[in-house]
Amino acid sequence: MLSPVYNESVIAERVKEIASRMNADFGNEKDYVHVIVTLNGAFMFAADLIRQCKFPMMVHFVGASSYMGTEQQKDLRINADALPRSFGNKPVILIEDIVDSGRTIGKLRQMMVDRFASSIKVAALLRRQGGGGNADYYGFTVPPGLFVVGYGLDLDGRYRELRDIQALNTATMVTGEGSKLC
Ligand code: IMP
Ligand code: MG
Repeated sequence: MLSPVYNESVIAERVKEIASRMNADFGNEKDYVHVIVTLNGAFMFAADLIRQCKFPMMVHFVGASSYMGTEQQKDLRINADALPRSFGNKPVILIEDIVDSGRTIGKLRQMMVDRFASSIKVAALLRRQGGGGNADYYGFTVPPGLFVVGYGLDLDGRYRELRDIQALNTATMVTGEGSKLC
C-alpha cells in the first residue's frame, strides 16, 4: 500500500540546503526572527531544519487542519492561541510540511500581516506541482495525485513516525539528485 519516495538521506540533504539558504538570507539579522511551525505535519521537518539555522529566533506553534483521509475539507481550522498578538515589525518564517493549494499558507500569511510581521517567508519541505501554492524555500515537488506520508505527514494521524516519505500510490524510490521526483 505504501511505496518509498524520498529516503532519509535525500531528505537530510535537502533540509541542509534549505537551512543554508535561510542562513544566507537571515544570517545578518540584528535581532531575532519569529519562526512559526505549522502543526502537526511540520514537526519533524521543523526540528531538523531549526537545528541547522544559525540565526537567533523565537519559535512558535500554530495548529492547522483541513484533511480527512486523502480528501481536503472545505473548512480550514487554524488554532493560533499560542501565537503572539504582535510580531513587532520583525521578520516571520512559516514552516510547513507541504504546500498544496496554498490555502493554509494564505490564511496564515494574512494573520502574520495583521499581526505586524515586517516580512513573511515560507519554508516547506514539499510543494504540490500545479497545486497553486508556493514557498520561498522548498525541498521537493510532489506530482498531483500522489498522497505522501511519513517524516511528520499523516493519513488520519498514522505514519508520522516514518523516517522517510512514502506514497499511498505506486512511486519510485528517490536515491539522488539525478533521479529525484519533481
Ligand atoms: P493547502 O492548504 O491546500 O496548501 O494544503 C496544505 C496542507 O494539506 C498541508 O499542511 C497538509 O497537512 C495537507 N496535505 C496536502 N497534501 C498532503 C499529502 O500528500 N500528505 C499529507 N498531507 C497533505
Ligand atoms: Mg499540515
